[in-house]
Amino acid sequence: MKLFLDSAKLEEIKEVKGYGILDGVTTNPSLIKKAVDALKKDGKKIDMEGYIKKILKTCGKLPVSLEVVGTNYEDMVSEGEILKKKFGKFGNVYVKIPVDPCMKDICKRDADGIRAIKALSKLGIKINCTLIFSPEQAILASKAGANFVSPFMGREDDYIREFNRLEFDKADYFPDEGIKKNGKLLSDRGIVSGVDLVSECVKVLKKSKTEVLAASVRNVRQFREAAEAGAHIATVPLKVIKQLLVHKKTKEGMKKFTKDIVPEYAKLLGR
Ligand code: E4P
Repeated sequence: MKLFLDSAKLEEIKEVKGYGILDGVTTNPSLIKKAVDALKKDGKKIDMEGYIKKILKTCGKLPVSLEVVGTNYEDMVSEGEILKKKFGKFGNVYVKIPVDPCMKDICKRDADGIRAIKALSKLGIKINCTLIFSPEQAILASKAGANFVSPFMGREDDYIREFNRLEFDKADYFPDEGIKKNGKLLSDRGIVSGVDLVSECVKVLKKSKTEVLAASVRNVRQFREAAEAGAHIATVPLKVIKQLLVHKKTKEGMKKFTKDIVPEYAKLLGR
């Protein structure tokens, strides 16, 4: 499974790039806001275009997802073209398009996201289709030409818990097999957890070229289970990437090995 960093903070991107295991970066308007707020807090002047160019240059050939902000077909297509034109020469831009930008119960026009994906992919622009919460959405995005589909694992778990009035913290683990309440397995139209959502997307896209990018990863168990579910990619915040390495017994083992070093062996290693 490929590892992407879910962040728009340049320092974080540089840090994980330095680990030598980074395969890409995903951003969204909320992550851009966090990065901009942090710069403002440090009293730095914001040059958004220059900042995005720096992210792309840092990432070299690695895919970097940049999201549109428009909510209709025309705006999303035009913003996708702007992103490609402005930044395409500085790195490997993937335009992030919401699968359904409609924010009301009834929208004047339907399928604007799908139509925008189709139009942009016809122009050779690579697409990460975002805000996927059902395998059905993933199938349509893939048919339209999306290179990546991003099922949001953590937010799917949030939805099942919120809907059923269960208390939880953002980073809480949610079992992949789902949760029972009063003997009944809770589900969102047959999806029982964020991991299940990823697993079903992988199943339905098995014969397509579209890669499943597990997003909204909140804890280490979700990361592992995304890999077990067959996700091609997981995009993970820095905090969770760091937690992937930590184990109490690893630290304990290190302390003992360090304590046991004999001078003869240390000398051999130039110490
Ligand atoms: C992915 O592309 C999204 O930016 C992201 O994973 C959302 O994560 P969140 O639900 O923790 O905000």
